[in-house]
Amino acid sequence: LSLFLDFSSSQNYVLNDKDGLGRVFDGIGGLSGGGATSRLLVNYAEPYRSQILDYLFKPNFGASLHILKVEIGGDAQTTDGTEPSHMHYENDQNYFRGYEWWLMKEAKKRNPNITLIGLPWAFPGWVGNGKNWPYDFPDITAAYVVNWILGAKQYHDLDIEYVGIWNERSYNSKYIKLLRYTLDKSGLERVRIIASDNLWEPITLSLMLDPELNRAVDVIGAHYPGTNTVMEALKTQKKLWSSEDYSTFNDEVGGGCWARILNQNYVNGLMTATISWNLVASYYEELPFGRDGLMTAEEPWSGNYVVESPIWITAHTTQFSQPGWSYLQTVGHLAQGGSYVALTDRKGNLTVVIETMTHDHSVCIRPPLLPFNVTAQNATFQLKGSFVSIKELQVWRSQFNFKTKKPSFFEKLTPLKLSDGTFTLNLAEDEVYTLTTVKTGQKGSYPNPPPSARFPKVYKDDFNVRTPPFSEAPDFADQTGVFEYYVNLTDPGPHVFTLRQVLTQRPVTWATDADQTISVIGDYQWQNVTVTCDVFMEKVKTGGVFIAARVDKGGQSVRSAKGVFFWVFADGTYKVTNDLAGQTVLAEGQSGTRAYGWHTLSLTVQGQYASGKLNGYPLWKKAVVLTPKNGWAAIGTHSYELAQFDNFAVEADK
Ligand code: GAL
Ligand code: CA
Repeated sequence: LSLFLDFSSSQNYVLNDKDGLGRVFDGIGGLSGGGATSRLLVNYAEPYRSQILDYLFKPNFGASLHILKVEIGGDAQTTDGTEPSHMHYENDQNYFRGYEWWLMKEAKKRNPNITLIGLPWAFPGWVGNGKNWPYDFPDITAAYVVNWILGAKQYHDLDIEYVGIWNERSYNSKYIKLLRYTLDKSGLERVRIIASDNLWEPITLSLMLDPELNRAVDVIGAHYPGTNTVMEALKTQKKLWSSEDYSTFNDEVGGGCWARILNQNYVNGLMTATISWNLVASYYEELPFGRDGLMTAEEPWSGNYVVESPIWITAHTTQFSQPGWSYLQTVGHLAQGGSYVALTDRKGNLTVVIETMTHDHSVCIRPPLLPFNVTAQNATFQLKGSFVSIKELQVWRSQFNFKTKKPSFFEKLTPLKLSDGTFTLNLAEDEVYTLTTVKTGQKGSYPNPPPSARFPKVYKDDFNVRTPPFSEAPDFADQTGVFEYYVNLTDPGPHVFTLRQVLTQRPVTWATDADQTISVIGDYQWQNVTVTCDVFMEKVKTGGVFIAARVDKGGQSVRSAKGVFFWVFADGTYKVTNDLAGQTVLAEGQSGTRAYGWHTLSLTVQGQYASGKLNGYPLWKKAVVLTPKNGWAAIGTHSYELAQFDNFAVEADK
């Protein structure tokens, strides 16, 4: 190990606090939502679920995150699914839907100091009063968002510290001011506002031109800033955050991306927080942006999860510095490429993080990365100012080793003894080092989780859960609409506990939600399957429901999903279509189906043929299905209408 080298060939870097410090560090975080990115996490059995949470949040263990940002569910599709709102309807309030409350509490249990942030992507339809726009009635929107923050405190004892405006969509100055006013008058003066979770402009210009707006906003949050900011943003003197970043496949290049931007977001852009989209890849991998999380936990049925490289790259910073520490002014680029940052608690502690990620091994999903060179180099660091007397530094190293494909992450090396306040590192390409006075670092570990396995071939859910821990049934991933456990108090017996689609109005959308509602489940590789489900329409005359197989799309592309869709309608007809939109009809006819009665639908797809049964009797057969060849099973409704589902079952041949 050639950690110590001949000084002559080495470039010098001074780490000094003599002339003051840099900006205050606000932390590194993960984003759950935007949307439904933690959907499958909640369905993991113990102890695996807790282990995953420990890798994310437990201090001195894994990623040990400082910040958890969550979506304020708005009932609409927000990338990998919908997340339920706390107010589906105007006079409805429920603070127990979805899993973000639970996630925030689990995070807080592990790290009581974690910073919580909420941001809406979408809003229930009533907030827009029928228009796909949340700012026509800004007082309503503000009250809606503030309710979520109040509910977090009242029902879960969670203090939301920051709230945003409308993810990557327009902001409205009047709304932001009204949000500030509504927060203050609700006793939430301590809650700070981030704007605008999009680009540096035009929010920066708005802040400069409007003193009242400037007072209302505490943080300028930019997305995917490519480690750079703009001069005007610096002039505002506001905190600058990369309030969403990363979104890169979490292999080693993903880890490299994360290592580079964690350092360089400060070095180049003076950003004092960076938040990863997403926290944990806990959604079906075939949905958009599969595996763009700090780690992967997409198999609740097997218990398998993977602690990916971004977890350990995060640890290099998070385990050795905390929000409230300060960056030093002496941070920068290394002579032969790469970067270094240094942070202090202003009480004698010093943490230095160095990365030498090469261009091709640190490309992020966006923005495009301009060419640069990194080569092996020696770097000599000279501690000055209050750090001159430091005698020993702990050393943590990650080596990506792209050539040998044998990376080593977050390895604790022998502490470095300093005699004259200097040390020299022999830096290779694609490495990350932490040198720190902090001694509490730890590479946490658990025994290997169970091996990866496919979704069970035979799967059933009768939804008979009296007090469900979550509002959603296991492994159903809503792609348009919201499907919730429901108790049917008037049912004589067989269908007291069901799953119900609860939206009656199109939300103020963020993506292009379908005109139908749909929840997918199972294995995307499924080809030959039988899907069975009891269905109950609650919309007379025009109501309709479906069960489906081989559904090939979700997320933002859900509108164009193809598959085999077996519909029955409240007007006494049925249809078989090749698409969710219902444009390609494979079969149709009379079914005698009505609202307010239970019907059992069964759909079998075998090779190129599909057939359907109603209440156990064949209704149609030999519909020809050429594509898609495979996909998820699904249930859903013809429009935003109430409907119930019970005794869902799938049998796949493999
Ligand atoms: C962001 C968006 C996220 C997610 C991500 C995928 O722009 O805010 O919700 O869609 O892109 O890269
Ligand atoms: Ca039931």
